[in-house]
Amino acid sequence: MVINESDHSQIVIFYFSGTGNTWWVSEELIRQFVKLGYRARAYSIENISINQALELIQDSEIAGFAYPVHGSDLPLTMKEFILQLPVLPGKRAFVFCTQWLWSGDGAAVGGNYLKDKGFCVQWGEHFLMPNNVSISLIRLPYTNNHKRLSKVLGRAAKQAAIFAKKIDSGRVSLRGFNRVSFCLGSIQRLPFRRVFHKFQDDIGIDHNSCIDCGECVRMCPVDNLYYEDEVIKTKGNCIICLRCYNFCPVAAVTHMGRAHLPGRGEPYRGPVENFDPTVLKDLQS
Ligand SMILES: Cc1cc2nc3c(=O)[nH]c(=O)nc-3n(C[C@H](O)[C@H](O)[C@H](O)COP(=O)(O)O)c2cc1C
Repeated sequence: MVINESDHSQIVIFYFSGTGNTWWVSEELIRQFVKLGYRARAYSIENISINQALELIQDSEIAGFAYPVHGSDLPLTMKEFILQLPVLPGKRAFVFCTQWLWSGDGAAVGGNYLKDKGFCVQWGEHFLMPNNVSISLIRLPYTNNHKRLSKVLGRAAKQAAIFAKKIDSGRVSLRGFNRVSFCLGSIQRLPFRRVFHKFQDDIGIDHNSCIDCGECVRMCPVDNLYYEDEVIKTKGNCIICLRCYNFCPVAAVTHMGRAHLPGRGEPYRGPVENFDPTVLKDLQS
């Protein structure tokens, strides 16, 4: 991605989004900041180098970081992104996560990594968004009915407006940055971290239904899927964002050997109708 002078903003958001929810909230927040008179822009961390991000952060007044909650934790890509940043003492920052139901201290987990980098984390928030876990093994409820989803998005939009106003006011607001939330979040996070590496090799391809379009290979944020001898294989470094599983046009991506069950309807395909996951990963770059 090429960064121009016009890309430099007062508020920058760096987000990772597996299936579009965190992208949606980030863009909604940007709309709110612009309404409040800021120059603001959101960047997917898949489309930007660490040096470009650093340049944008240094030129900004406030930097935001956003990610989906995975087992009350932040995705590995976001953690690595933050860890690669140099120490930036005193830079004002906010952090938010998107989640389906609950995470305890989902935002604080990322916030603590940012604090270690010297950021002055002043605002933290959790946004309830649609569930993107549509794998057949764990039959959690999810929906692809965008009329029903509009209620969830309407609530998230209101929450984004309030969050933007809090940031604008300068008033510190750190939801979930407390001991109780930490203890509750840890109950889910610690076992999740223990089994995470086992999950990393669970994505596969049902070669009988695969149409060889290569979308999963192109979409994967961590290049876990790749071609070898014209066959799609996996490296075992999946971060379980479920992008490939949810957006495969013929549901040929499997999780723990199981493809998506047609009886469950379409897998989760993002917060808005015809959501295009290529916005999350600029395929030209
Ligand atoms: C591996 C995994 C773990 C998840 N863990 C949680 C969780 O602990 N709590 C929760 O409320 N939602 C959880 N979710 C749901 C997502 O956090 C939620 O749908 C999020 O908004 C997805 O954002 P994205 O579309 O930007 O990837 C999980 C999703 C995945 C894929």
